[in-house]
Amino acid sequence: MSLRRLTLVILVVFITTEAASGEEVKKAVGDAVCFRPNRIDPPASSIMWKHRNSSGVLVNVIEWDCNGFSIPNQRFKDITTLDKETGEITIRDLNVKHSGLYTININSKEQEQRFHLEVLERVPKPVIKTQKSINPDAVYLICEYSETIIWKNSAGKTLKGLKLHLKGEFITVEKQGNPENFYTCTLENAVSEATSDPVYERDLFNDLNTRLVVAIAVSLITVVIIILFLIKIHFRDYCAACCRRSKIYKKITDM
Ligand SMILES: *[C@@H]1O[C@H](CO)[C@@H](O)[C@H](O)[C@H]1NC(C)=O
Repeated sequence: MSLRRLTLVILVVFITTEAASGEEVKKAVGDAVCFRPNRIDPPASSIMWKHRNSSGVLVNVIEWDCNGFSIPNQRFKDITTLDKETGEITIRDLNVKHSGLYTININSKEQEQRFHLEVLERVPKPVIKTQKSINPDAVYLICEYSETIIWKNSAGKTLKGLKLHLKGEFITVEKQGNPENFYTCTLENAVSEATSDPVYERDLFNDLNTRLVVAIAVSLITVVIIILFLIKIHFRDYCAACCRRSKIYKKITDM
């Protein structure tokens, strides 16, 4: 066998055993996860699961031996169970701190299998912000989040967003003349997705009716203000006259 072929064979064996011994799982906060080792044969007399986080801190997760079960670490208390027949571990109510590498010792011997767990927060339900543009028939819709963003319109078509300076994306929406058209923004990560409430075209552009209503309201208010002003002037003149009269009256009575 040539050296080249040998290298290839070694490489293939290495890659396949790597794949077989490494299991990668992504879960959302609050989910449960199960890891199960290859068949235990003959039955084990002791089992121990260990967890190493990305800082390299190693803790015992759950142990079983002739003294029964024990869960020494607070982080795994009340949420972890172990099946002593199969070696399967279950962890419920996961949080991001449970991310890391899980390994199992059977009869005090560390097994080759590796279990990688990544626990991610669920994405929040996004809220679309709007911003006017110079063009009265166009507005910007903004989705300010760091996750993957997917824009869609009411026809189900995916729209291409442009990157914002800090985080998130925006799209430019032009008036189509159909008030029922709408747009949504969806956030996505490896374990979850969430879509915003739709933003309708009727709420993005002032149509003719609203402009008319605003114009009427403004002219009515102006008329009322002018009337109040005139009434005020009238009363001032009236009072001044009144005042003058009473002064004259006072002078006469003082005499
Ligand atoms: C790893 O665990 C240690 C001890 O609990 C903790 O202080 C540290 O923040 C953890 N690292 C990560 C990346 O969670």
